[in-house]
Amino acid sequence: MKIIVTGGAGFIGGNFVHYMLDKHPEDIIICLDKLTYAGNMETLADVMDNPNFKFVKADIADRDAVYSLFEEEKPDIIVNFAAESHVDRSIDNPGIFLQTNVIGTGVLLDACRKYGIKRYHQVSTDEVYGDLPLDRPDLFFTEETPLHTSSPYSASKASADLLVMAYHRTFGLPATISRCSNNYGPYHFPEKLIPLMIANVLNGKPVPVYGKGENVRDWLYVEDHCSAIDLIIRNGRVGEVYNIGGHNERTNLEVVRTVLAELGKGDEMITYVTDRPGHDRRYAIDPTKMHNELGWLPQTKFDDGIKKTVKWYLEHRDWWEHIISGDYQNYYQNMYGDREHKFEK
Ligand code: NAD
Ligand code: TYD
Repeated sequence: MKIIVTGGAGFIGGNFVHYMLDKHPEDIIICLDKLTYAGNMETLADVMDNPNFKFVKADIADRDAVYSLFEEEKPDIIVNFAAESHVDRSIDNPGIFLQTNVIGTGVLLDACRKYGIKRYHQVSTDEVYGDLPLDRPDLFFTEETPLHTSSPYSASKASADLLVMAYHRTFGLPATISRCSNNYGPYHFPEKLIPLMIANVLNGKPVPVYGKGENVRDWLYVEDHCSAIDLIIRNGRVGEVYNIGGHNERTNLEVVRTVLAELGKGDEMITYVTDRPGHDRRYAIDPTKMHNELGWLPQTKFDDGIKKTVKWYLEHRDWWEHIISGDYQNYYQNMYGDREHKFEK
């Protein structure tokens, strides 16, 4: 099987490339990535010599580049991870989110129609369902929950999902969609909560918590996301959406305290900052369909996953230190510069 993995130089795509080359050494993996600020060749350094792996630098929204890659490679499967993925950046600058997440997905879908493929898989997010109230722990997102987005990021991801479903219905494109909860693990870009926290603490900097830290996220170790997608592209039914999550809800403050404890620190490292505009309160996935139809269950418990993740960041300082030098400094100053200490609990 020849699989194009878009966004494979990013966090989840990079983990997926490693997972697939290990698990299915008979498959050929082609990574198509634009190498935006979030794409990092160091994530793929140890697979670059693998004869079953190839890297192509291109933009998924560049029709000529995408068509020529399809013509040349004749892939069987496309797994689309490529996206602008950070909510805070989407609030700052929505345009690129529409360009990559919506237009880019449209170009990939057109290429699939033109050249013919066995499966197109869209990596989506639970954020397309909007949020749940904090005082209703009985409510979960199922695949039938209506799309109800809050941020430019989630709106762009929901738009892409609608396009994928339209291409399935109208053109018979063999497509599937997965909607996963928050991931954590190795190669996670340090603008997101967990790696940002680890990097800050290791550099002696405070950890910014938005609002009161009461928002709830449903955390999944990244390898469990990879195994779920692998199952869907092989055994999932076309035209279907699959929710992926491990019933592992935590308030942000709980997550922050778990990570701080793993690093031998406590609340003295926390700084409460102005809340994110439109901040989703709670995400919680009902993963019953993944379990019943595909036999999927997550393997890594949160406490073990956090231990593994902190260890990875300690052992791979070079990887994230290269990232937080240069341009990232400007981002951090812009995002947090006059925000810190604005909010007192
Ligand atoms: P990421 O930001 O770490 O990586 C995105 C990758 O896409 C980067 O390598 C980047 O260079 C590449 N890219 C961006 N624009 C591109 C373009 N126009 N053409 C080609 N490549 C481009 O993102 P991530 O956290 O790994 O997320 C991957 C996917 O999973 C996204 O679609 C995201 O919506 C989805 N998702 C993420 C999470 C999460 O917790 N991180 C949860 C559920 C779903
Ligand atoms: P994030 O990792 O950006 O993922 P998402 O917004 O897609 O869920 O944020 C996870 C949660 O942590 C979210 O509720 C926002 C919060 N957060 C902070 O409190 N401080 C931070 O510095 C960041 C980046 C996020």
